[in-house]
Amino acid sequence: MTDITIGFIGAGNMASSIFGGLLAKGIDASQIWLNDIDAQRLTALAQEYKVNTSLNYEEIVPRCDVLVLAVKPQVMEQVCAAIAPFLTKPAPMVLSIAAGVTVASLQQWLGQVPVVRVMPNTPALVQAGASGMFASQEVSQTQRQQAETLMNSVGQSVWLEQEALMDAVTAVSGSGPAYFFLLMENMIDAAIKLGLDKDTATTLVLQTALGAAKLASQSDVGPGILRERVTSPGGTTQAALQTFAEGGFSELVHRALTSAKQRSEELG
Ligand SMILES: NC(=O)c1ccc[n+]([C@@H]2O[C@H](COP(=O)([O-])OP(=O)(O)OC[C@H]3O[C@@H](n4cnc5c(N)ncnc54)[C@H](OP(=O)(O)O)[C@@H]3O)[C@@H](O)[C@H]2O)c1
Repeated sequence: MTDITIGFIGAGNMASSIFGGLLAKGIDASQIWLNDIDAQRLTALAQEYKVNTSLNYEEIVPRCDVLVLAVKPQVMEQVCAAIAPFLTKPAPMVLSIAAGVTVASLQQWLGQVPVVRVMPNTPALVQAGASGMFASQEVSQTQRQQAETLMNSVGQSVWLEQEALMDAVTAVSGSGPAYFFLLMENMIDAAIKLGLDKDTATTLVLQTALGAAKLASQSDVGPGILRERVTSPGGTTQAALQTFAEGGFSELVHRALTSAKQRSEELG
């Protein structure tokens, strides 16, 4: 990655987290080029990160080996039409993080360039993201590794062999942070009702969520076994888990993720 140029079209939240992650991993600021429609934003980012910026697609696109499209899905077609004339051969790998925009659409707008479609999630903003990635057949092995390096700089990534699985990824990890936030919110509310003050309840719940995620990710057994290990027969955890089961918790989670997947299919 030390000798490639990485361009970002759209320098918003997601783009900032990705190039921030790359800089933190040792990519040189001179390798990064940013484009956005907001000139003031570009000036501020250039000052803060010492990266290259330009308001003009023609100044950025031809020099890039990897071009990250980080604009909102609704402006993607317009942006692709504007950059397509500058995709000179050999074309860069185009990596799109826009939700719901298919590889077929991107290649219709850009031509048969190598495309990687990525579904990141918001914890990428704190370098703890989870991304699902799908590559078009034009993407080489080296480019796959570059895509992995890019997304692994803000967390972990997995490859999908079928693009249709992107809807499942959207339901699981794309929308997933909100499910955990909901559980945290409800646990904080319940803790306050049990007599704890708000700050105490929030500290305990957030640290417990962080600790459980860390333990599960570092353990050589799955979350089911970890749950069993902290559930003594007749104990407090079992009392709570039994109440969850009586309320149909597992079924509810299954239905919620199915709804998210169906909605992702509809939006796509
Ligand atoms: N945030 C997430 O959790 C998340 C998760 C999964 C996928 N994504 C995807 O990531 C993409 C970016 O999301 P984000 O949250 O980073 O959005 P964002 O903060 O709004 O960033 C998009 C940036 O692109 C700029 N822009 C708009 N039109 C442009 C154009 N024609 N040329 C160049 N730049 C242009 C926007 O400027 P203005 O603000 O002035 O319009 C903004 O600075 C979206 O497609 C979204 O679907 C985001």
